[in-house]
Amino acid sequence: MRNQGMMGAPGMMGAPNMMTGGNMMGNPNMMGMMQNPMMMMRMGMMQNQMPGQMPGQMPGQMPGQMPGQMPGQMPGAGGAAGPVDVEYQRRMEQLRLAEEQLMQQQMQINMQMKMQQMQQAKLQRKAQELAKAKLDSLKKDTANWQINYEELELEQKIGEGGFGEVYRAKWRGTTVAVKTLKHKGPSSQFTADEAERYKREVSILRALNHPNLVLFLGACLTPKLCMISEFMFGGSLYDLLYKKKKLPDHTKRCVLALDIAKAMAFLHNHKPPIVHRDLKSLNILLDEKGEHAKVGDVGLAVGINKGELKGVVGTYSWMPPEMMKGLAYTEKADVYSYGLVLYEMCTGKLPFAGMPPQQISLRVAVYNERPPLPSSLNSKWRDLITTCWNGEDVKRPSFIQILDMLAAIEKR
Ligand SMILES: Nc1ncnc2c1ncn2[C@@H]1O[C@H](COP(=O)(O)OP(=O)(O)OP(=O)(O)O)[C@@H](O)[C@H]1O
Ligand SMILES: [Mg+2]
Repeated sequence: MRNQGMMGAPGMMGAPNMMTGGNMMGNPNMMGMMQNPMMMMRMGMMQNQMPGQMPGQMPGQMPGQMPGQMPGQMPGAGGAAGPVDVEYQRRMEQLRLAEEQLMQQQMQINMQMKMQQMQQAKLQRKAQELAKAKLDSLKKDTANWQINYEELELEQKIGEGGFGEVYRAKWRGTTVAVKTLKHKGPSSQFTADEAERYKREVSILRALNHPNLVLFLGACLTPKLCMISEFMFGGSLYDLLYKKKKLPDHTKRCVLALDIAKAMAFLHNHKPPIVHRDLKSLNILLDEKGEHAKVGDVGLAVGINKGELKGVVGTYSWMPPEMMKGLAYTEKADVYSYGLVLYEMCTGKLPFAGMPPQQISLRVAVYNERPPLPSSLNSKWRDLITTCWNGEDVKRPSFIQILDMLAAIEKR
């Protein structure tokens, strides 16, 4: 008989299962057996069988009749087991053992799979827990500073600067300054990265507390980005010098210069150092009585120091030559700007007034020019100003040194 295999065995396909009375191919147990090579081997023994023929039964032999047994003869009756019987038994035993082994292997595989599934579920749970913890901590971070825009009652626009508009507003009964931020990029929308950076910087700013820094109260993330800080009723030093045209006397000049230097020493000694990059009379704000100064707009000009700083930031009249040239700069950039602020307080003159940026750059960065100091100016102020605006940033003093110099000037 041609070996047609199990699938090809005539009568087997679609024939009712001898054992169950069902269709063999439609029987899931049967399908499982088909995938089990040992089972297939076992089935292979039946390959040449006729439908209804028992394993080992010779064609033509009656069901229940043993090999070598005559039809009608009882199994085992009349005669010893023949060689076919022995071979059959031996192969059956071999198959039984192999099957047992296979079952054991199958059990092991099942156990391993179950353990892997458990491990995977555990890892998934852990990842979910971590993600939740991160989200919670972010929520907690923003909760420290996030202000609901709806709680702000905008009263009037008080100014417009490089970064956006400033409004006087009421927040929970207190007068505050609200600065809305313009987006400078090609799109009007902040990217996810920018928003993340903004959040990080805002949480650092919220933690900066110094009596000479304008108190940062918080920020709004929606519907627009705004920074909210204490309202400085005395206006800016710029307003005092050029709008009110009041030149501070020596004592007041010392107080204001010390206030600014203390705020700057605090920022520069922060870990990591914070460079303001936009120190100028417009960003120095006065209290209600106009007696003390605070440095503002730290958050907007700040580049929380991530190594080397580069690029043009700030306003040209107060900008150090290294920044104009596009070179790397350090916190000493702020010392240069401070020199210009001292110049403003000593002279009541706006540095490089009316000059276009290119001309200021040419004079400062190429010809190393500075605004003229009056000959009547006290030599200690003159020395302090000139050392601060030195062309080489390493030759400029630190704000801690400046505080000492100011103490000496105060005592004169
Ligand atoms: N906290 C504040 N309290 C009171 N007035 C403020 C406050 N912050 C800013 N102002 C006023 O709003 C004006 C505009 O401020 P803004 O910071 O937008 O512009 P800027 O200082 O001219 O330039 P920059 O954007 O470079 O800082 C300031 O000059 C100041 O008069
Ligand atoms: Mg400002």
